[in-house]
Amino acid sequence: QEDAFKKVVSHAKEYGFIFPSSEIYDGLSAVYDYGQNGVELKNNIKQYWWKAMVQLNDNIVGIDSAILMHPTVWKASGHVDAFNDPLIDNKDSKKRFRADVLIEDYCAKLEDKATKEIEKAQKRFGESFDKAQFESTNERVLQYRAKQQQILQRMARSLEANDLADVKSLIEELEIADPDTGSKNWTDVRQFNLMFGTKLGASADSAMDLYLRPETAQGIFVNFQNVQKTSRHKLPFGIAQIGKAFRNEIVARQFIFRMREFEQMEMQFFVQPGTELAQYEAWKQKRLNWHLALGLGQENYRFHDHEKLAHYANAAADIEFKFPFGFKELEGIHSRTDFDLKAHEEFSGRKLQYFDPERNENYVPYVVETSIGLDRMFLALLSHCLKEETLVDGSERTVLSLPPALAPVKAAILPLMKKDGLGEYAQNIFNDLKYDFNLIYEEKDSIGKRYRRNDALGTPYCITVDHDSLTDHTVTLRDRDTMEQTRVPVAGLRSIIEEKTSF
Ligand code: GAP
Repeated sequence: QEDAFKKVVSHAKEYGFIFPSSEIYDGLSAVYDYGQNGVELKNNIKQYWWKAMVQLNDNIVGIDSAILMHPTVWKASGHVDAFNDPLIDNKDSKKRFRADVLIEDYCAKLEDKATKEIEKAQKRFGESFDKAQFESTNERVLQYRAKQQQILQRMARSLEANDLADVKSLIEELEIADPDTGSKNWTDVRQFNLMFGTKLGASADSAMDLYLRPETAQGIFVNFQNVQKTSRHKLPFGIAQIGKAFRNEIVARQFIFRMREFEQMEMQFFVQPGTELAQYEAWKQKRLNWHLALGLGQENYRFHDHEKLAHYANAAADIEFKFPFGFKELEGIHSRTDFDLKAHEEFSGRKLQYFDPERNENYVPYVVETSIGLDRMFLALLSHCLKEETLVDGSERTVLSLPPALAPVKAAILPLMKKDGLGEYAQNIFNDLKYDFNLIYEEKDSIGKRYRRNDALGTPYCITVDHDSLTDHTVTLRDRDTMEQTRVPVAGLRSIIEEKTSF
């Protein structure tokens, strides 16, 4: 598992998807840059989300609010007081850790033990081994899994109740040690605010303390009335936004899973009070369907319904995805009641209400929120789609089987050789199609090598120009997934690529 994840990270770099930020200065922890192919994939994910949310729903509109906001926003939203992570210091190494991450790591070790148990049995029984049957009946595996669940539940309960002493005693009971030094000498658990601060204004005494937004949602709440009045939408209606968010995460690891600068795709759906739970259920299903439509496999998603809720929510669930390091949160769906709008009314002194012509009354709408991390979605795709395949002739290939609509490059135009006018002919095809698709033109290296490189990049089609092309105006079209090669007329290329790669 660890090896598979390392491959994802190195592949992302080798193929121009993701680079460590400021790498020539040894990088900046938990900050990453998207390269030439990464930015294309990311833009395609954004478009897939935006189309599904804004374009296909006649009652959802988009906005793009500023990252910097009035500082009182974060008092009203509760982020100044409550946006905290539980931290614990190791007294010997003087290193700081996130308490919940230490506990999760411990549980990952239990999971490893269960996996080893399964692998051992697999070796022993060979062909006849029924993995699912063994997993569901083997006592040791069941014990590891049950213990894991028990620990995580207790941690979640104590964190939600803000019982930090219990989080500490859990760490002590499990005898969790500093991963580097092995020391078990811990301080008490404390909370740490995750917002990045900055200043507005030049002179020290007049400068105003600001925060970089830790979520995009508040930009939507404070614009609720502007958008409602100018769009003239009746309830229920939604406001969507894609944008950067910043969190000073203490333990930021697992590549782009938890970053300090990341992007969110959020939608707040404003509804009549009393209808929010039905809307919440509907959005849970709609968002799951959006994920499933990508075809990564239903078994890789599950809901995690939150038992204990934050003070502003009356229902909350995560859509979890099976990352190489286990099932983890990919998206959150929250029924946030009227908490945010009411808080902004109180702190701003302005009414944030809706006049309901049917009920003939004013009220503060309730909100159902869907919130997905763009970078997490990127990681889900990259880690799921990267595969090593053994071909019938025994050779190996690396293929990135991205859904074609999201692939950074839709087709590679490849002249078999540059001379004899093949290069020119291929460039004409490139120039004809470039207005509709992101393409690459490559003439270096053997055709086999070029196919392999494009497989690893996730390019759905390779288009090869050979000598026959010059006279019969057909080309070889190679499919990334089946590796099948067919002869097709140049004139038909646009519609073939269009059909394969449109949303
Ligand atoms: N407005 C609600 C909100 O921000 P959240 O659960 O804190 O809720 C929503 O964040 C989503 O944003 C998460 O499901 C995750 O995909 C993504 N996310 C949160 N923190 C992140 C981080 N440090 N790095 C990358 N993605 C993150």
